[in-house]
Amino acid sequence: MKRLLALLLVSLFTLAAAQGQLEIFSWWAGDEGPALQALIDQYQGMYPDVEVENATVTGGSGVNARAVLKTRMLGGDPPDSFQVHAGQELIGTWVVADRMEDLTFLYKEQGWLEKYPAGLIDLLSAEDGIWSVPVNIHRSNVMWYNPAKIAELGISVPTTWDEFLSSCSSVQAQGVTPLVMGENWTQQHLWESVALGVLGPDDWDALWSGDLAFNDPKLIKVWDTFGEVLACTNDDAAGLSWQQATDRVVSGEAAFNIMGDWAAGYMSTTLGLTPGEGFGWAASPGTEGVFMMLSDSFGLPKGIANRDNTLNWLRLLGSVEGQDIFNPLKGSIAPSFDSDLSRYNAYSQAAAADWKTNRVVGSLVHGAAAKEAFMSQFATVLEIYLSSNNAGSAANAAQAIASQVGVGQ
Ligand code: GAL
Repeated sequence: MKRLLALLLVSLFTLAAAQGQLEIFSWWAGDEGPALQALIDQYQGMYPDVEVENATVTGGSGVNARAVLKTRMLGGDPPDSFQVHAGQELIGTWVVADRMEDLTFLYKEQGWLEKYPAGLIDLLSAEDGIWSVPVNIHRSNVMWYNPAKIAELGISVPTTWDEFLSSCSSVQAQGVTPLVMGENWTQQHLWESVALGVLGPDDWDALWSGDLAFNDPKLIKVWDTFGEVLACTNDDAAGLSWQQATDRVVSGEAAFNIMGDWAAGYMSTTLGLTPGEGFGWAASPGTEGVFMMLSDSFGLPKGIANRDNTLNWLRLLGSVEGQDIFNPLKGSIAPSFDSDLSRYNAYSQAAAADWKTNRVVGSLVHGAAAKEAFMSQFATVLEIYLSSNNAGSAANAAQAIASQVGVGQ
């Protein structure tokens, strides 16, 4: 009893004592912000005297945030904590540069080693440390649609890319875009779903272990299929954000979109649609039974001004309470085994069931599969394909980058 009282006093003292600032850096800006805001509100309730700065840099998938982060990290001005994908995005860049603190002590203190899937902890670990705390698990390979529109078009949701391609011209003839696409990174996002559908999970994994070359004939087939799919997309892709592409599915201007399940968060939280009614979903063609995952995480940079406040932030986002506040709004699921699924909508419950039973592979575009050096140069490979329409050139360019950065080593 005495011990309990002492513990209570200590924790009350810690809560009350937390002061100063906390800067949280991410790309969850604007209509992508509600989940983060809910987590920050929770933090503010616990630590009312801490001044939280929600520093966001707009741009889906972190395309702009990563550049700003680089400038700040290299300039000796790290944010207290920043969003980063679990995997090589952090490890290959900031851990190898010795800019991050090892968080193994926090994992032990919080009992997280037993609370998160071992595969996820592996992804967060390297160089004898665990380098960030995951707040979610997103799925990349999802095809979204508007059920009423699909019925009106007289088509079914395709389970293979061949099926999709066979209905493409009939959808176009009805004045509807078969597949809406947005700016460059969303095109890479589409590519990874096409690649997974064409290659299957074993060959997808073989790419990242270095056992399958990027210019293997199987990859030529991927680029050729990608080219056929592109012919069924909108002409103004370069000017659309991922949200604007999603909007076209919701309005019925487009039949399908391939996007990660932050689109479910956007459609349910921001647009107020009910999963299964306002929007439908399926594994992207050819990937049923495979869950292409990615995870957003936050770390502890070395040399920050507000280390204690940051540790409390990490404790919150790693906790089941924090994750069950954040993820129902975000469209993702909680890494924690203790997550309360009754707090999630029908889409997320389905994703959680798939996460448990599916074959899990990592996303390229969202940092899980390959070194950041490969991922960031993949935008150029895509440009090469778009300008040349030549599968061989794209495949060779990808292989050249893979050899240069040492994919699989
Ligand atoms: C991903 C990120 C998601 C979501 C998405 C769109 O890279 O992991 O949480 O923010 O970008 O911006």
